[in-house]
Amino acid sequence: MKEFSLGISALLFTWLLSGCVSYKAQYTGDWKRLKSTEESYFTIYLIGDAGNAPMDSSTKVFDHLKRELDQEKVNSAIIWLGDNIYPVGLAPVQSIYRPLGEHRLSAQLNTMSDFQGYKFFVPGNHDWYTYGRIGLRRQELLVDSFLRQTPNPNLQHNFFIPDKGCGDPQIVDLAKGISLLLMDSHWFLNEQARTGDQDICTVQTPKQYIDKLRSEILNQKDRSLIVASHHPPYTYSHHGGKFPLKDDIFPLTQVVDWLYLPFPAAGYFVNRMRLRISEQDVYHPLYKAYKSNLIEALEEKGRSIIASGHEHTLQFIENQNQYFIVSGAGTKHNKVGMGKGSTFAIGEKGYVKIIFQNPKEALVQFIVPGHFKEYNHVAYEKMIELK
Ligand SMILES: [Fe+2]
Repeated sequence: MKEFSLGISALLFTWLLSGCVSYKAQYTGDWKRLKSTEESYFTIYLIGDAGNAPMDSSTKVFDHLKRELDQEKVNSAIIWLGDNIYPVGLAPVQSIYRPLGEHRLSAQLNTMSDFQGYKFFVPGNHDWYTYGRIGLRRQELLVDSFLRQTPNPNLQHNFFIPDKGCGDPQIVDLAKGISLLLMDSHWFLNEQARTGDQDICTVQTPKQYIDKLRSEILNQKDRSLIVASHHPPYTYSHHGGKFPLKDDIFPLTQVVDWLYLPFPAAGYFVNRMRLRISEQDVYHPLYKAYKSNLIEALEEKGRSIIASGHEHTLQFIENQNQYFIVSGAGTKHNKVGMGKGSTFAIGEKGYVKIIFQNPKEALVQFIVPGHFKEYNHVAYEKMIELK
């Protein structure tokens, strides 16, 4: 009986710890709102998981983002961090799912119709679902053909990176002293994505992926580096093992929003097991390998920014001398907690803006349209230094 009580207490304790999540803004440490009066040297927008716009309409986030993008000049870039079309990527033309998928992509593309800066898309796991590499290629062609018609003072020729369903980590020179590394993290994590014809890809195995990743990072030497891919090395929401109590008690609501059937023991067990079984969650061995190899290379290079989506939250995390930005709240939002290295987290829809004052110093702003109006919708901001 004593063991049983102890077991229940331990379960409740873990539950309480993992359940400390909220939609509200959470902060640690001292931070104050800053007034940037300096001209931007280069500005980067980060938005992820933006493929869930409702049929026939835009969203508050996209409208706000477009207004900002319209003001930007040539010294700017936007990166769409994957899960660009929920839930299954781009269906073929004859499919009943095609009109919604096409609309969801168009809603994102339309925000850039007058944008002068660089425009990039990387894939997420949902872009691979159901149609695999063929669906991804369909999306790539649609993105590239639309963006070729938009203002292009930087003479950019490739917008959807990597190409043709490859994983290939790839460097882009954004400005003097600033590099961007783009890659498909789902390709590394998912065995299915790596099957089929890889001959067209520079990188054909996970080992080659890590080798290329490492050499590209170390090649950047004195340049500041932003690494952008879909899966975050650190996160403190669903994929990182921080579940709201609702997901443990009513686990089926994770599949169907309104299915409130109580299965607390099963919910707790399945949610914890999922973290190790699914390669989409941080405790899976492949995910851990991705994270450790990436961070190891970055530690050797110096302090950089690692930008990701996947988790429907906005988070700023500082660990291992690196800056981790989670910006996966383009069209969805979830509760989020604070964990090791967190300085900010919020479970509202929005995006991130990095305003470089020079190649080594930048102001990072978390923008939540509709909230924090008195602060120009900035929920959190911080000056950072890169090496
Ligand atoms: Fe995802």
